[in-house]
Amino acid sequence: MKHADHAPRIDSMTHSPIEELTALVVGGGSGMGEASAQAFAANGGSVVVADLDGDRAQRVATGIASHGGEAIAVRLDVSNQEHIDAAVKRTVARYGKLDVLINTSALVTPARLEDVSLDTWQRCFRVNVDGALMLARTCLPHLRRSAFASIVNVGSLAGEHGYAKGGAYGPSKAALLTLSRQMALEWAAYGVRVNVVNPGTIDTPMSRGAVRREVLSERAKTIPMGRLGEPGEVADLIAFLASPAASYITAQAFNCDGGLSQSMFSQPMGVPQPQDPIS
Ligand SMILES: NC(=O)c1ccc[n+]([C@@H]2O[C@H](COP(=O)([O-])OP(=O)(O)OC[C@H]3O[C@@H](n4cnc5c(N)ncnc54)[C@H](O)[C@@H]3O)[C@@H](O)[C@H]2O)c1
Repeated sequence: MKHADHAPRIDSMTHSPIEELTALVVGGGSGMGEASAQAFAANGGSVVVADLDGDRAQRVATGIASHGGEAIAVRLDVSNQEHIDAAVKRTVARYGKLDVLINTSALVTPARLEDVSLDTWQRCFRVNVDGALMLARTCLPHLRRSAFASIVNVGSLAGEHGYAKGGAYGPSKAALLTLSRQMALEWAAYGVRVNVVNPGTIDTPMSRGAVRREVLSERAKTIPMGRLGEPGEVADLIAFLASPAASYITAQAFNCDGGLSQSMFSQPMGVPQPQDPIS
């Protein structure tokens, strides 16, 4: 067991807390994953950008390298154990270690509960829950060797609140939250911290793909801060939680939502109604 009183500290006056750490960023080819990979690399960390879309992952890794950062890309489907094994092996072969796992990947399945097929339900859980478990368990032996090990999973406000098109997605994010807390409690003895970041409505390809621009603009008006979040704003929180600066924070979930979740006058994604259109 790594005892807290022996936990190494980093002098944040002289070093970025992320410097010399290696992170595997899954879903790193777009949106908040991309921004997290960039934030990690900008602070001196080495990043393996992993994504279902290998071209996107490569574009992000190349962009980081062109700014003097350290990154490689791997194609990975988080629902495939063999892909995960290969990505973790490649990470360790290239950088000799793995300190941080950031998982921003997700499958969004807009549907009502009464309509969602069991196949869609299971695919959603396979990516959002089984994938997170497979990833974390595969990384665990390497994380246990790190003095600064941490995992950040990206959830959603939909994991805590129902919404019009929550279908399988909301319940899967609720499961991801509890799974993350269970990991945190079991793996605290190994010195591995695990936290969750729940974004509000963030301006990313995912939200732009799921919701029309006019609807997003209307939604922004219901957010106390009056605007959508930027991927970089969420990435800064993810990078903080992943870093040794957050050395005593584990088993927590943090909303990064411009106040959305706390306003009784916000109806982030609408009250579920049987007649609601799905898109
Ligand atoms: N955008 C929002 O408003 C919002 C709100 C709440 C929660 N979230 C959550 O934030 C996370 C990031 O979302 P984003 O908006 O940045 O999305 P995004 O679509 O911009 O990026 C997600 C990335 O994950 C990758 N991905 C999808 N399935 C994968 C798989 N099976 N294996 C590996 N990679 C896979 C995609 O290719 C994509 O590059 C997701 O977990 C999402 O559920 C987003």
